[in-house]
Amino acid sequence: MSTDIDKFVVPWVRAAAPYSDRHMEFAWSHPEVLRMMSNENPIPPSPAVLEAIQQAAQLGNLYPDSGPALRQRLGEMAGFGKENVILGNGSTDIIDIIITTFAAPGDEVLIPVPTFSMYEARAKIRGAVPVFVPLRPDFSWDVDAILAAITPKTKLLFLCSPNNPTGIQIPLDDLKRILSAGIPTVVDEAYYELENEPRTLAYLIREYPNLIISRTFSKAYGLAGLRVGYAIADAKVVDYMMRVRIPWNVSLLALAAAQAALDDEASFLEKRRTIIEGRQYLCDEINKIPGLRAFPSEGNFVLIDASSLGKTSEQIRDELIERKVFIRPMSPHHMGQGFVRVTVGTPEQNEFFLQVLRAYVEEVRKGK
Ligand SMILES: Cc1ncc(COP(=O)(O)O)c(C=O)c1O
Repeated sequence: MSTDIDKFVVPWVRAAAPYSDRHMEFAWSHPEVLRMMSNENPIPPSPAVLEAIQQAAQLGNLYPDSGPALRQRLGEMAGFGKENVILGNGSTDIIDIIITTFAAPGDEVLIPVPTFSMYEARAKIRGAVPVFVPLRPDFSWDVDAILAAITPKTKLLFLCSPNNPTGIQIPLDDLKRILSAGIPTVVDEAYYELENEPRTLAYLIREYPNLIISRTFSKAYGLAGLRVGYAIADAKVVDYMMRVRIPWNVSLLALAAAQAALDDEASFLEKRRTIIEGRQYLCDEINKIPGLRAFPSEGNFVLIDASSLGKTSEQIRDELIERKVFIRPMSPHHMGQGFVRVTVGTPEQNEFFLQVLRAYVEEVRKGK
């Protein structure tokens, strides 16, 4: 018997473009290509973290809890309690939990773009309608346009600070104006620990209970493969999100790794220093290459305007892959052709990337 399975699938899932994992599959199957495409931390977990994972693995026959000890600790670090923190399987899980909590099919989710693509992707999968508000040409947030885009159907608003891929923080006054509209508003602080002077916005939750802070262990702490993210929010918001969360969404190994990563401050500081120095170096060196422009960043990535090369972003990616470096094209993410993003690596990796980039740009120019 044959069934037309398509007609049984919910319409918004049928309509959604599959999130392409091809870049990740490609990277894993080509270990000879330097992975500078997904804002991973180039430094592997420390011995203390590995030891904690191994210990936890011995209890792998048991289900985890919701991580009350880790939640308590993360809450205290931000000046809050356990009831203000919820853990996720990476912060992408947190983003999905937030969307499921607030946006029903047909509801609108406001997203200033360009930004992290997952807000749009997960909103669509839940049947919500992403409404895009372009950043200004200097990448600042157009607060008037954001406020003007709010309708009775707007249930959620995503801000990312520092923003991926533009690398800049939202000014406090802009954020307060947006929060005053009363819409549940996420500030994704995935890169906050890497800011030159880390400035969390979590304290604003007391004044604006509609503010939800999202964080992750994937970036500064370098645990992307372990999958731990969290939100800090008003206790009532966390209570609702807890209803949506799948129990046991963070594994025992991930919980242990996150605790150990917090304990291991020396490793954390080394990672932070490597990234902060690396991004400055990359930015300075890229700006010396004629025709390229790199933007200052407070994340572990640098945005590059290479439009003067006359290539599409995808061409630049493919031609650099041939030269053994994998970076990310930004044109599929609400940016112009020729914009690409590179993740900060170790000093050796940054040097290799720069050598490749310099030679590539020279070749393109000669070929013109
Ligand atoms: C802004 C932002 N938020 C969240 C994430 C996803 O992080 P996680 O690994 O915690 O799901 C990323 C990853 O690149 C990101 O850039």
